[in-house]
Amino acid sequence: MRLRNVKNAYEILTSSFYFVENPKDYKNNLSSLFLTEQPIHLEIGCGKGQFLIGMAKKYPEINFIGIEKYDSVLVRAIQKCKEEDLHNLKFFCMDAKEILDVFHHDIETLYLNFSDPWPKNRHHERRLTSTTFLTLYESIFCDTPNVIQKTDNPILFASSLEDFSKNGYILSNVSLNLHETEIENVNTEYEDKFVKLGQPIYYLKAIQKK
Ligand SMILES: C[S@@+](CC[C@H](N)C(=O)[O-])C[C@H]1O[C@@H](n2cnc3c(N)ncnc32)[C@H](O)[C@@H]1O
Repeated sequence: MRLRNVKNAYEILTSSFYFVENPKDYKNNLSSLFLTEQPIHLEIGCGKGQFLIGMAKKYPEINFIGIEKYDSVLVRAIQKCKEEDLHNLKFFCMDAKEILDVFHHDIETLYLNFSDPWPKNRHHERRLTSTTFLTLYESIFCDTPNVIQKTDNPILFASSLEDFSKNGYILSNVSLNLHETEIENVNTEYEDKFVKLGQPIYYLKAIQKK
């Protein structure tokens, strides 16, 4: 998701209660960012924040962090939060490649929602569910690695099923049409668009074997 450069993006981000400017300073101490010490869930590639704002409202007993690599995109999430009073939500502007600089055995659940699909085979390792990334994620979890993925893209979904299996995950919940199931769900921005177009949403929950 690319947006035109937003004027004053840096000022908008750094003046917000929801934005953390130097997340590396909180490594091993992420709970201190929140009012209450409780489980932390992470979304990588949170875009304009709709999913996490909805989740933070719905589950006040969980702390949520969203990471997004473009500041111009994250500004939209921060602006959406203006009217909210959420003490369980923070956003970091960073690339998933740097995840180990910030996260270390503190995450309970990881969400990968409508990640960039990188459909060409030669770009397979750029997918956020490739073995490269799954290996990185292993040490961010406080307990058993636990990932929830949603996508509209069949190529990404098929390769994710394969990569999770190759990396010792058990797929506990797989759906080829999330919106026809009873699975609890909060829509993302992209999901809203695809649902309006009548496209099915692929869903999986993957838990690594001990
Ligand atoms: C297709 S959008 C989906 C946004 C949102 N999750 C949704 O479902 O509406 C993918 C988002 O992931 C971000 N992204 C892609 N690769 C990333 C990475 N390596 N680290 C952090 N964010 C990333 C993009 O900038 C973009 O905002």
